[in-house]
Formats: sequence, structure tokens, C-alpha cells
Amino acid sequence: MDKNQPAEIVICMGSSCFSRGNKGGVAIIKQYLRDKNLEAQVVFRGSHCFGECENGPVLKIGDEKYTQVDTGMITELLDKHFAL
Ligand code: FES
Repeated sequence: MDKNQPAEIVICMGSSCFSRGNKGGVAIIKQYLRDKNLEAQVVFRGSHCFGECENGPVLKIGDEKYTQVDTGMITELLDKHFAL
């Protein structure tokens, strides 16, 4: 993670991704940022449909876009980017 640039997490809140898991993903990510004290350094926001519902749920962390994201793998993905 570039220390000079706040990292950004964008979660797709389009209806397809939302109903297939990203609804729960929001809570997981918020909790993670709280637990790791990252709330000040990471911008977390929802987005409209990414236009790739067939590959959803979609989650973007920094420059990486993840597809078919299962809520069970979110912590692992976040660790990959933010593990200190
Ligand atoms: S709803 Fe997420 S890509 Fe369409």
C-alpha cells in the first residue's frame, strides 16, 4: 500500500452483487477497518453496478478488482492488501 495515498475500497452495491453477498461484505469490511485501525487511511465506498454482474459479486481494493467474491474470502483479500 502506498503510504502517501489513501487506499480505496469500492464495493459494488448494484442489486445483483448486493443480493449475492456484498450486503454482508459491507459489514465485514467496516469491521476489518475498525479492528485494524485503518479507517483514517482507507476510503471505503459503495458503487453502482460495475457492469459485470455475471462475474459478481465485485469488490475493488486499490487497483485490484476481484470478481465472484464470497464473503468468506473478504478478510483474506483485505489481509493481502493491508497486512502490516
Ligand atoms: S451489480 Fe455488481 S456488477 Fe452489476
